[in-house]
Amino acid sequence: MALSSKLMIKCWLLLNITFLIGISTSVGQLTNEMYYDNTCPNALVAIQQAVQNAVLGEARIGASLLRLHFQDCFVQGCDGSVLLDDTSSFKGEKNSLQNANSLRGFELIDDIKSTLETMCPNVVSCADILTVAARDAVVLLGGQSWNVPLGRRDSTTASLDASNSDIPAPSLNLDGLIATFARKNFTALEMVTLSGAHTIGDARCTSFRGRIYNETNIDPSFAESKRLLCPFNGGDNNISTLSNSSINFDNTYYNDLVSKKGLLHSDQQLLNGLSTSNQVIAYTTDNESFKRDFANVMLKMGMLSPLTGSDGQIRQNCRFINA
Ligand code: HEM
Ligand SMILES: *[C@@H]1O[C@H](CO)[C@@H](O)[C@H](O)[C@H]1NC(C)=O
Ligand SMILES: *[C@@H]1O[C@H](CO)[C@@H](O)[C@H](O)[C@H]1NC(C)=O
Ligand SMILES: *[C@@H]1O[C@H](CO)[C@@H](O)[C@H](O)[C@H]1NC(C)=O
Ligand SMILES: *[C@@H]1O[C@H](CO)[C@@H](O)[C@H](O)[C@H]1NC(C)=O
Ligand SMILES: *[C@@H]1O[C@H](CO)[C@@H](O)[C@H](O)[C@H]1NC(C)=O
Repeated sequence: MALSSKLMIKCWLLLNITFLIGISTSVGQLTNEMYYDNTCPNALVAIQQAVQNAVLGEARIGASLLRLHFQDCFVQGCDGSVLLDDTSSFKGEKNSLQNANSLRGFELIDDIKSTLETMCPNVVSCADILTVAARDAVVLLGGQSWNVPLGRRDSTTASLDASNSDIPAPSLNLDGLIATFARKNFTALEMVTLSGAHTIGDARCTSFRGRIYNETNIDPSFAESKRLLCPFNGGDNNISTLSNSSINFDNTYYNDLVSKKGLLHSDQQLLNGLSTSNQVIAYTTDNESFKRDFANVMLKMGMLSPLTGSDGQIRQNCRFINA
């Protein structure tokens, strides 16, 4: 082989190595989606198939997984803390103000975890499972995909207090929503994009009763139809879809808001500021820009304060720290 072509191959290799290092350092201490390729090569396929089977059985589970990932990342970072059960000596996040009687999807995460523990014990973290499952769920329901940097480890703690203070309540006004997301370094416009998650899934009567009985910035026939599902007294756990397209990941949520058909008080608040309402309106005419922005902001959310290196652990059971 001529010297010049050997040199060219060397340069090419060097360039590639630099490129790969560039990718892994550009996302902090997480590495790219190939993280488990040597240690658990079928992990991502197994997660995707489990999520797909679950979504085919009940589309809402996709929404539930997306919310679980959000609630995990906003409390201590994406470290699987939300998955820890309460014990007699330990209070986790499952019974916090916004989570109690509401968060779902834990059994599916348990099933995926036990499949992966059989395939490759002590390798895949619960926090990574949640991140990949949320992405797969969004894609299965029609959203745009994103690459998921991997290598998160699981927490050995959870925080009920942080869950109570950092998970936004549906009673928040726009300023409160902006502040809650700013604490996690998201801009107001990124908050508008993340709120588009409410294009899928359901809410309990108790989360929207105040809005449908008391508010004026609501379409009257919409309010009336929701009152049939959600009586003034009782029926706290009756559910309604969050958007008019609750099993398709698209821009319907934003169209609902413009029609004063946001289900939660917090949803309708997005129209109360100039830049946030402009963003809502822009998304109503452009599914693709919403889906693209959503993919990008989910990538960012998934990188909130991960545990890496020798921090935390790989939990064997997502509900409990290792003995
Ligand atoms: C902007 C502030 C937010 C507030 C105030 C909020 C509040 C809520 C509330 C009250 C519910 C219904 C809970 C129930 O009644 O059981 C809900 C459901 C949901 N939330 Fe949010 N949320 C916010 C942001 C987000 C974000 C950023 C995501 C994800 C990226 C998300 C994803 C979901 C999903 C998918 C559901 C439906 C879950 C299911 O059907 O199981 N939310 N949210
Ligand atoms: C937000 O950004 C600041 C400055 O870069 C950083 O110190 C802080 O840890 C970030 N907060 C979160 C929750 O990631
Ligand atoms: C509606 O507003 C009234 C007066 O502010 C309050 O007493 C009542 O509890 C509210 N109802 C709901 C369902 O939020
Ligand atoms: C809602 O809850 C009430 C009280 O539990 C119940 O009577 C009613 O049938 C429920 N409505 C729907 C639509 O599920
Ligand atoms: C939901 O969409 C259907 C079909 O597009 C429409 O007929 C209906 O009025 C919508 N409902 C609400 C509450 O917006
Ligand atoms: C967005 O996508 C939905 C299908 O999920 C479609 O019904 C709707 O017309 C699209 N709207 C725009 C403005 O692209």
